[in-house]
Amino acid sequence: MEKKILITGGAGFIGSHVVRLFVTKNPNYTIINLDTLTYAGNLENLKDIEHCTNYKFVKANILDAEALSKTFKEYQITDVIHLAAESHVDRSIHSPLDFVYTNIVGTVNLLNTAKQYWGSEQNHLFYHVSTDEVYGSLGETGFFTETTPYDPRSPYSASKASSDHFVRAYHETYNIPTVISNCSNNYGPNHFPEKLIPLFINNIIERKPLPVYGDGKYTRDWLYVKDHAIAIDLIFHKGKKGDTYNIGGFNEWKNIDLVKLLCKLMDKKLGRDEGESEQLITYVKDRPGHDRRYAIDATKLNKELGWQPSVSFEEGLSATIDWYLDNTDWLKNVTSGDYQQYYTSMYLNR
Ligand code: NAD
Ligand code: DAU
Repeated sequence: MEKKILITGGAGFIGSHVVRLFVTKNPNYTIINLDTLTYAGNLENLKDIEHCTNYKFVKANILDAEALSKTFKEYQITDVIHLAAESHVDRSIHSPLDFVYTNIVGTVNLLNTAKQYWGSEQNHLFYHVSTDEVYGSLGETGFFTETTPYDPRSPYSASKASSDHFVRAYHETYNIPTVISNCSNNYGPNHFPEKLIPLFINNIIERKPLPVYGDGKYTRDWLYVKDHAIAIDLIFHKGKKGDTYNIGGFNEWKNIDLVKLLCKLMDKKLGRDEGESEQLITYVKDRPGHDRRYAIDATKLNKELGWQPSVSFEEGLSATIDWYLDNTDWLKNVTSGDYQQYYTSMYLNR
């Protein structure tokens, strides 16, 4: 079937990889990327596919119900893949309301628009892209499964948990065909340099301090962004309506070990002396309410849909560093303007 898929947040990090995959893999689908282009949205991320005839861009805010309605009508939207969000935990600690508006109200706006246009038709899908952070924090052992109770602890994860609940509520109450996936930490090209890996790559290049929060022993499960996009494609086409799927990298790292590996790889690639970048590591005040450990059990996605990560961490991290070293203009563009001010207030004055 010819689909007209609205992808929200397609100019962002993960969204741009999802848009590229859908545009290139499915020439008979029309992909409408709706994005308001916040600091994290960047059309440069999609330069290579913007000429494709099955790709359209709409600059609009998901808080603008009229713009959503107009887009649904104009393009006769058949499906939604919803990624638009405020995505950074540290920013949510400083400005929680921005997260309430975009992540909760924006999602409900989008659900209302889908409900208005699709009515009770079942040949549609509202795919909500979410995070493992809704499950809270793990101790030394155990994994998040699809039945782990929600226990969000940051304003960001509380807003994402709320949006997940609204998606489920619209499925139960109005019979909207929905699916949700909850993914672990992504890394890869086009990642805005406020998150751990791209921030530290940028800082190593510029020989700036690497601010490690607290004792550095917090643990995250890392997945290469292209593997997340592949999982989304699979769940979009084969997932069970009304269901939830966890996506993870089976790849846990303590922050400090990851940072040391990154320093080592970058010293080699930049031709610096071994150990030079590690000297930039600076322990700083902890993130308030910092979740100790995330680890995803992605068995359901593996067993039911046959998905598993295709890129090893060594390959993915090396490719990511190479991408940043080859795209210094991209890095310069996104770190100009307000970025320096943000960086100073967020990291240096903690
Ligand atoms: P990002 O911050 O890189 O991109 C977000 C995009 O949404 C940007 O292009 C931005 O312009 C757009 N946007 C923000 N507010 C908007 C609004 N009100 N209206 C329209 N567009 C708006 O985020 P990301 O890291 O690519 O994350 C994408 C989604 O995946 C989010 O929903 C996030 O919660 C989820 N997620 C992210 C990760 C991760 O590791 N980055 C992991 C799991 C889930
Ligand atoms: O788990 C999925 C989530 O992963 C996504 O839903 C979020 O959108 C995404 O931002 C990410 O959240 P985290 O808070 O885990 O990512 P971040 O890169 O901000 O931090 C990763 C770890 O590194 C975390 O333990 C905090 C720590 N950290 C982070 C930064 C930016 C530092 O020690 N220093 C830093 O400067």
